[in-house]
Amino acid sequence: MRTVVFSTKPYEQPYLEQANAGRHQLIFEPASLSSATAHLAAGAEAVSIFTNDDASAPVLEALRAAGVRHVAVRAAGHDQVALPHARHLGLRVANVPEYSPYSVAEHAVALMLALNRRLRQADYNLRNYDFRLDGLVGFDMNGKTVGIVGCGRIGGVLARILHGFGCRLLGYDPAPNAALTERYGLAYTSLEEVFAQSDIVSIHAPLNEHTRHFIGAGLLQQMKPGAMLINTGRGGVLDTEAAIAALRSGHLGALGLDVYEHEKGLFFFDHSHEPLPADDTFARLLAFKNVLITGHQAFLTREALQNIADTTVEHLNCWARREASPHEL
Ligand code: NAI
Repeated sequence: MRTVVFSTKPYEQPYLEQANAGRHQLIFEPASLSSATAHLAAGAEAVSIFTNDDASAPVLEALRAAGVRHVAVRAAGHDQVALPHARHLGLRVANVPEYSPYSVAEHAVALMLALNRRLRQADYNLRNYDFRLDGLVGFDMNGKTVGIVGCGRIGGVLARILHGFGCRLLGYDPAPNAALTERYGLAYTSLEEVFAQSDIVSIHAPLNEHTRHFIGAGLLQQMKPGAMLINTGRGGVLDTEAAIAALRSGHLGALGLDVYEHEKGLFFFDHSHEPLPADDTFARLLAFKNVLITGHQAFLTREALQNIADTTVEHLNCWARREASPHEL
């Protein structure tokens, strides 16, 4: 099946090539999918897209007009796809629902620990041969309360890891999972209580019409003074301006992000040669010493890349046989 793989990065191409083993004609395209690039899919039956590709209604229409019938999302989150419109156009869309919840949960823990133990500052001091410990005081994770917002696959793995640390776990999820309570003592409560009682809150809810900006000024105000917020879910669930205001007032003690509301066009690209970042909000976030940001890399482990490639090729195999893929949305 001829497939244009949009947003291909050098680190994932070998995994896709190996999983494909020459079965399908994969055309690796570094450009993102948008209305300006949809024509690149002409003559292909399928496209594969990533997190920051644009699969909004007009782009899907352009793909359909170019002859595309299938869209394989190389990610778990699929908020970038206008799914009802895809169905209306008869496009089959599939994602990779579970490629490695460990990759993201472990990255969330990395952000927590790096902020808590001031690893960036410690590394900077040490490289300057400044071995004083002033300003590097952290806290024991043991005994702290951690709130998990979105206790699905990733939130569940996070609960397991933090249970091992000796944390008290609170959770908010409209669909509670009793196993997390039995195994790790996670107590489900309201979103407000999660924010009010936690020393650290970690967000793992999907972005949709209900969750856009659902973490805003009201909830941030209810946090304990000096508490930490981690977001490795989707940037749009957090009102970034409200987070900046909470940091500025000193109420929010630390912020760890792997995702950012306006990351499209910014993350995954080299902007190092530009004189000033065009995004003022991002520049303000970077100005805080107690903010640590990674550029949407939580998923980036060898195991995750392998699973993403394997599942993407599985979709193509099913579609080439004119069958539905098990992971169609
Ligand atoms: P999942 O579908 O297993 O779990 C999501 C959970 O969120 C579900 O239990 C669901 O009931 C819950 N939920 C839905 N609406 C909610 C709300 N309003 N408040 C609280 N919880 C709510 O998904 P999974 O695999 O755990 O992924 C979670 C999110 O993480 C994805 O939607 C994706 O956006 C993000 N993600 C980020 C990655 C990264 O590299 N930074 C990589 C993979 C996923």
